[in-house]
Amino acid sequence: MGSSGGTIKMSVFGAIMALLQFVNPAVASEDYYTGNETDRLALLEFKVAISSDPFGSFSSWNDSSAHFCKWQGVTCSTRHRGDRVAVLDLRSLKLSGSISPHVGNLSFLTKLLLNDNGFTGLIPPEIGSLGRLQHLYLSNNSLTGGVPEALGRGLKNLQVLDLYLNDLSGEIPAPIFNLSLLRCLSFSWNHFHGALPWNLGILLPKLQNFAVYANEFTGSVPASLSNASNLVALQLGYNRFTGRVPSMASSRNLRYLMIDHNSLGSGDDDDDDDLGFLSSLTIASRLDILDMSHNNFGGTFPEQVANLSTRLRTLDMGSNRISGKIPSGMRNLIRLQLFDASSNNLSGKIPWSIGNLQSLESLDLSYNKISGSVPLSIGNLSRLVLFSLGGNRHLDGEIPVSIGNCSKLIFLDLSDNNLRGIIPLEVMSLTSLSRVLNLSRNGLTGVIPAEVRNLKNLGSLDLSHNLLSGEIPHSMGSCLGIEVVNLRENLLQGSIPDCLGVLRGIQRFDVSVNNLTGEIPDVFQDMKFLQLLNISYNDLEGEVPRRGVLKNGSIILVAGNSRLCGGVPELELPPCNFKGLKKAILSKKWKIVIASTISSMLFLTLIVIFWIRKRGKQGSVADDDSKLQLSYQRLLKATNGFSTTNLLGTGSYGSVYRGVLTENGTTIAVKVFNLDHRGAFKSFLAECEALKNIRHRNLVKILTVCSGVDRQGNDFKALVYELLANGSLEEWLHPVERADEPPKSLSLSFRQRMNVAINVASALDYLHHQCETPIVHCDLKPNNILLDEDKVGHVGDFGLARFLRSSDDNPCTTSLTSSTIGIKGTIGYAPPEYGMGNEVSTQGDVYSFGILLLEMLTGRRPTNEIFEEGLNLRTFVQSALSQIPFPTEALDPILLNELRLRQISKEIVIAVLKISVACASESPQERPSISQVLARLKNPHFPNHI
Ligand SMILES: *[C@@H]1O[C@H](CO)[C@@H](O)[C@H](O)[C@H]1NC(C)=O
Ligand SMILES: *[C@@H]1O[C@H](CO)[C@@H](O)[C@H](O)[C@H]1NC(C)=O
Ligand SMILES: *[C@@H]1O[C@H](CO)[C@@H](O)[C@H](O)[C@H]1NC(C)=O
Ligand SMILES: *[C@@H]1O[C@H](CO)[C@@H](O)[C@H](O)[C@H]1NC(C)=O
Ligand SMILES: *[C@@H]1O[C@H](CO)[C@@H](O)[C@H](O)[C@H]1NC(C)=O
Repeated sequence: MGSSGGTIKMSVFGAIMALLQFVNPAVASEDYYTGNETDRLALLEFKVAISSDPFGSFSSWNDSSAHFCKWQGVTCSTRHRGDRVAVLDLRSLKLSGSISPHVGNLSFLTKLLLNDNGFTGLIPPEIGSLGRLQHLYLSNNSLTGGVPEALGRGLKNLQVLDLYLNDLSGEIPAPIFNLSLLRCLSFSWNHFHGALPWNLGILLPKLQNFAVYANEFTGSVPASLSNASNLVALQLGYNRFTGRVPSMASSRNLRYLMIDHNSLGSGDDDDDDDLGFLSSLTIASRLDILDMSHNNFGGTFPEQVANLSTRLRTLDMGSNRISGKIPSGMRNLIRLQLFDASSNNLSGKIPWSIGNLQSLESLDLSYNKISGSVPLSIGNLSRLVLFSLGGNRHLDGEIPVSIGNCSKLIFLDLSDNNLRGIIPLEVMSLTSLSRVLNLSRNGLTGVIPAEVRNLKNLGSLDLSHNLLSGEIPHSMGSCLGIEVVNLRENLLQGSIPDCLGVLRGIQRFDVSVNNLTGEIPDVFQDMKFLQLLNISYNDLEGEVPRRGVLKNGSIILVAGNSRLCGGVPELELPPCNFKGLKKAILSKKWKIVIASTISSMLFLTLIVIFWIRKRGKQGSVADDDSKLQLSYQRLLKATNGFSTTNLLGTGSYGSVYRGVLTENGTTIAVKVFNLDHRGAFKSFLAECEALKNIRHRNLVKILTVCSGVDRQGNDFKALVYELLANGSLEEWLHPVERADEPPKSLSLSFRQRMNVAINVASALDYLHHQCETPIVHCDLKPNNILLDEDKVGHVGDFGLARFLRSSDDNPCTTSLTSSTIGIKGTIGYAPPEYGMGNEVSTQGDVYSFGILLLEMLTGRRPTNEIFEEGLNLRTFVQSALSQIPFPTEALDPILLNELRLRQISKEIVIAVLKISVACASESPQERPSISQVLARLKNPHFPNHI
C-alpha cells in the first residue's frame, strides 16, 4: 500500500497514544511544616545533577528561600512526623542532566514524575529503595542502559511504570513482573529484547495497559493473557513475536489491541486456528482499534468479524495471508473508519453492503484476488479519503460513476485490474484528489477527459497501460500540483502540448509507447525538478531540447523515434540539418553562424519592409523615432552594459532595461528577448507583427527594432520602446519597498483608477474592433499597463498577442495565427477556457480586463492565497455584492478611506464592481464586449460622481 495509508495509520496511532496517556495524579498543595534534613539534602543533590533548566524551575530550590516543601514541583506529605517529600513532579520542564541517585533517599516518595524532559544517563538503581513508590514516570527522555533489577525488589507498591520512548535496552529483569500491583506497564519505543514470561497474565492480575510497542521482543504472546480480565490496551506491535495469539475471552474491557508488525500466525491458508482469537474478541464490547497487520496470519476471513464491537473504528488486517471473502455481515461495523485488508489472499466479490460503512475514511483492499465489479454503493462512502483496489487483477466492469460522490478522496488507486469502459468524468471531477489517481494497467478506452483540469492539486496521475486514445488534453496544464505524469503504453496521438510548461513541479513525465507526433516542446528544459522524461517509442520528430535540466542526458529517454535529431551527445542522435529559418536563428553553433546571419538579414528586411509599407500607407506618428537606428553597441552603452541596476523587470521571454541615449538624453525601455527560450522568438515575431501596424494613444509606442549579434556572437533581438515616467500599474497597486530607495507613497485615487480603466478599455476596443485584423492581447495584467507622466494608461507587452483568422491572411500573419493558444497568458488573469485549450478570443481579453478591474478596486491579486477551492477574486466580489449592506472592507483600503471621507459614493463603486464581475464571467458568452464596457464606463450619467 502507498504511504498514504501509512500516514492515516500513524495519525490513528498518535490519537491512541494520546488516549493512552496515563492519568497523572493531581498534585495537592500542602501546608508549611518544618522539614526533614535528609529530604532537603537529597533534593539539593537532585538539583546539582540538572545541567539545563531553561524555565528556571529550580531557581526556588535554594537554602535561603522557603522550606523545601514550597519548592517548585515538590509536594510534602502531612501524615508523617516532620515533612517528607511525597511527590516530585517535574514533568515537561525541558530539563536535562542525569537523575541523581540521591533521589533514592526520598524514602516517603509515592510519585516520581520526570517524564517529557531530556534526562540522560542511567536509571539509578537507588530508585529501587523507594518502597512507597506507586507511580514512576520516566517516559519521553533519553535514558540509556537497562532497567535496574532493584526496581523489581524495593518497589512492591508500584502501580505504574512508564519507560515509554527512551533509549533503554537489555532484557526486562524478571522481578519486574512480580510487582503484582502493576496496572500500567509501558516499555514501548526502546530497544528491549528477550521473551515475555508465559505467566504474565497471572503474575500481573491488575494489568490494564501493557505496552511493549516498537522493541525487539521475541517469543510468543503470553498465553496467560487470556486471564487478564482487566486489560484495556495491549500493544505488542513492531516486535518479533511468533506463534499463535491466545484467546482473549476474558478481556471484556479491551479497547486497543495492537499486535501488528510481528511474525504471528502459521501462515498456513488452511489453518483457521490462526484467527481463532478474533472470535474471542467479540466479548470486548468496547473494542476500538484492532491492528493485526503485517504478520503471518493464515486461514479464512472469519464471519465472526461481523460480530465485533460496533464501536470498532480501526480494523487493520493488511499484509497477512488471509483467504476467503469479505463477509457481508461487516455492514454491522457502522463506526469503522479504517478498514485495511490489503495484501492478503482474499477472493470473491466486494459485498454491496460495504456501502453501509458510512464512517469509512480509508478502505484498502488492494493486492488480493478480489473479482467482480466495483459496487456502485461505494458512492455512499462520502467520507472516504483513501480508496484502493489496486493489484487485484480480477476486478472487471466499469469504474462506477458514483465514485464522484466520494468528494473527500485524496487517494484513488484502481490500478492493475481488468476494468473496461471510459474514464468517467466524475472521477476527473474529484477536485479533492491531491495525492494519487492511479488507473493504470486496466483496459480503459476513450480519451483522457478534458475535466482532468479539475485535478489542480493532484500530485501523481498514472493512466499508463490502458487503451486510451485521442490527444493529451491541453487542460492538463491546469494540474498545477502535478509531479508525476505516467501515460505510457496507450494509443495517444497528436503532439505533446506546450502548455504543460506551466507545470513546473513535474518530476517524472512518461508518455512512452504511444503514437505521439510533432516536436518535443522546449518547456521541459525549464522544469527544474525533472528526473525522468520518457518519450521513447513514439513518432516524434525534430531537435531534442538540450538546455536547462535536459543538459543531463541521462534523464531523457528517446529510443524508438526515428525522426529525432540533436540533443546532448549522450543520446547519440544524428545531428540536425537546419533547414528551417527558426532553427538557424535559435542555434548558437558556429557552423551555422553564416546561415544565421543570412536569415537574420532576411528577417530584418521583412521588418523594414513592413515598416516602410506602413509608413507609406498611414504616415507614421513615429516618423522621427523610426529613423533611430540603434545597434547592439548603442543599446549596450545606453543601458550601461545591460547592468542589473538598469533592469526594470524580467518577463516570460526576456528582460526589460531602462536606457538613456547618450546623444539626446532620450530615455528608453529596451526589451531583450532571451532566445534560449524557443517561445521567445515567436514572442518577438508576435510583438513586432502586432506593433508594426498599430497606433493608439493608449498603447505603448515602439521606437525601433534591434536585431543583431551580441559580444559573444549570439543572436540578439530587442525591441525599444518609449519609457513611460510612472512605471507599471503593478507598482502602483502593489508597491514594494526597496532597500535602495526611500519608500514611495504610491497610491491612485478612485478617479485615477477609473481613468486608467478607461484607457485600457479604449486600447482593447481599438485592438479588437478597429484594426484591420482583430488582435487579441492575451496577457493583460497590471505589469503590462504602463503609466505616463500624467498617469495615462498605456497597454504594452504584446509578446503573446494573436491575430484572429481573417479572410485576407497574409503569409506573415498566418504563421502567427495559431488556432489554439500554446501559452496561456498569466495565471489568474487568463480566462478559464484557455486552460481547456480553447481558441483565443476577444472575450478572453475581456475576462482579463474584468480581473484587472477587480484587482484595481479590491487591491487583491487574483493569485492571493485566500483564493482557493472555488473561491476566486470574482466569486469573492460577487458574494460581497450579494450582502446587504455591502461590506466595504472588501475594497482597497485607499478607496475605503475615500468612501469614509465621502469623496466617492458607494453606488458608483458597486456599479463598477458589477461591470467587472460581468467581464470576469466563467462563460465567454456571458461577458460583454469591450465596446459595451467602454461605453458604460464613459457614459456621463453612469460615473456622475467621478
Ligand atoms: C543518601 O543516602 C546515602 C546512604 O544510603 C548517603 O551516603 C548519602 O549521603 C545520602 N544522601 C543525602 C543527600 O543525604
Ligand atoms: C531563592 O529562591 C527565591 C524564590 O523562592 C528567589 O527569589 C531567590 O532569587 C532565590 N535565590 C537564589 C540565590 O537563587
Ligand atoms: C528524617 O528522615 C530520616 C530518614 O527516613 C529519618 O531517619 C529521620 O528520623 C527523619 N527526621 C525527622 C525529624 O523526621
Ligand atoms: C516529549 O516531550 C516533549 C517536550 O516536553 C514534547 O514536546 C513531546 O511532544 C513529547 N513527545 C511525546 C511523544 O510525548
Ligand atoms: C498512429 O497515428 C497515425 C496517424 O497519426 C495513424 O495513421 C496510425 O494508425 C496510428 N497508429 C496506431 C497504432 O494507432
